[in-house]
Amino acid sequence: MSQKAVAIGSDHAGFSLKETLKKHLEERGITVHDVGPFDTCSVDYPVYAKQLSQYVLENECLGVLVCGTGIGMSMTANKVPGIRAAVCANSYQALMTRLHNDANVLCLGERVTGPGAAQQILDIFIDTEFEGGRHQRRIDLIEKS
Ligand code: RB5
Repeated sequence: MSQKAVAIGSDHAGFSLKETLKKHLEERGITVHDVGPFDTCSVDYPVYAKQLSQYVLENECLGVLVCGTGIGMSMTANKVPGIRAAVCANSYQALMTRLHNDANVLCLGERVTGPGAAQQILDIFIDTEFEGGRHQRRIDLIEKS
């Protein structure tokens, strides 16, 4: 299934990579819902992580969060029930977190991952389908904990 819409958000430390990834998605013909920020002023990443998580749940789409490391974004997003956020620094993690964890939010670190690698990670994340089967049981256990 190709993604029709993807939500994206960042903090100031992830702003530049957010803009790059947004352009990349739009060039692929994917509609992007940008929850902000819209400039490089210093902001608090949990605000954007929560906003994006809400949008992902309401619209049943995938989301991308970018901060300096990807870690603060993932910590916040994973506190929202129904969100499975994965920090990925390589394509293998992006592939496996969709296949096995049914991750619905990709977290990237602008200070960790360059734009070329980040685009490849994002493409794999949005182009890979959850495998289901035995992995669904494990996802259900995450949601119950
Ligand atoms: C901001 O300086 C930085 O702390 C933030 O972008 C992120 O890396 C937190 O996890």
